[in-house]
Amino acid sequence: IEDVARIIKSEGVKNIIVMAGAGISTASGIPDFRSPGTGLYDNLQKYKVPYPTAVFDLDYFHSNPKPFFELAKELYPSGKYRPNAVHYFVRCLHERGLLLRMYTQNIDGLERLAGIPPMKLVEAHGTFTSASCTKCGKKYNGETIKDKILKGATPRCQLTPLCYGIIKPDIVFFGEDLPKRFYYYLKDFPACDLLLVMGTSLQVRCYSLYFTAARITQCDFILSYFVEPFASLVDSTRATTPRLLLNMVKVGPFTKPSRRTDLSITGDISDSIHKLADALDWREFLQETMEAHE
Ligand code: APR
Repeated sequence: IEDVARIIKSEGVKNIIVMAGAGISTASGIPDFRSPGTGLYDNLQKYKVPYPTAVFDLDYFHSNPKPFFELAKELYPSGKYRPNAVHYFVRCLHERGLLLRMYTQNIDGLERLAGIPPMKLVEAHGTFTSASCTKCGKKYNGETIKDKILKGATPRCQLTPLCYGIIKPDIVFFGEDLPKRFYYYLKDFPACDLLLVMGTSLQVRCYSLYFTAARITQCDFILSYFVEPFASLVDSTRATTPRLLLNMVKVGPFTKPSRRTDLSITGDISDSIHKLADALDWREFLQETMEAHE
């Protein structure tokens, strides 16, 4: 942590990229996906889905949208969950002019609630802030369907009486392309001079191929040999760019470090972030940023 703080304080870095997953929101009360026992995918029994990831599958959604909308009711950014110190640490990086971009897989919207500007955010798995009719494609503002979702109803398109298609929040389902903004990485990552990977298992797969195989085999956790869109970002930096993993456990390339400049800090991410803030003399700055915004 001292090493990382030193290169940040020495102004040796100006373009930090953050890659984040569900592990940064567990301190806010939102379960991650794969932690054994507590992860979402271990707790979907009540939705009676054939396999865990079916809740985010486009074909399954068309046959039975209920499980997704029940989950959406829990996850919808309705103010029920608040950002935590990890989100605000990234906000502090932005306030100090050090954040090039934050690539998040999370759909809880806590990055925006922490005041990280949308232009600094790539919500790689989509967002509830907008929605689309799955039949005619009409775009909707997420706010227009929020009440219906929170009441447990399935929002329907009103473009024409003939449409009546289901309106789905613009969350990226298995089989859907990632948002165009995801491809900012092509110019961001070569400019990155410090990569922070936080709270993710880096297990994202090429949904269409992975998902088809999962559906055929009814086995959700098949080993994936396909392209890994989000996970592959981690290898898109220059070979000399330091990469720091802040995660409960080592994941992805950090399990067998191939680069001298790879660092891992395992354990609870809130503890690690507070230690990093202390090493940067940012403890007060972080606290004040949180209090001012909360
Ligand atoms: N401190 C540190 N690490 C944590 C904490 C914590 N408090 N809580 C969880 N983690 C770690 C877990 O150990 C795990 O390695 O965060 C990681 C979360 O991994 P996943 O549950 O797989 O979540 P994520 O990587 O975001 O999943 C990626 O998969 O199914 C898709 O669309 C879904 O966006 C999701 C994507």
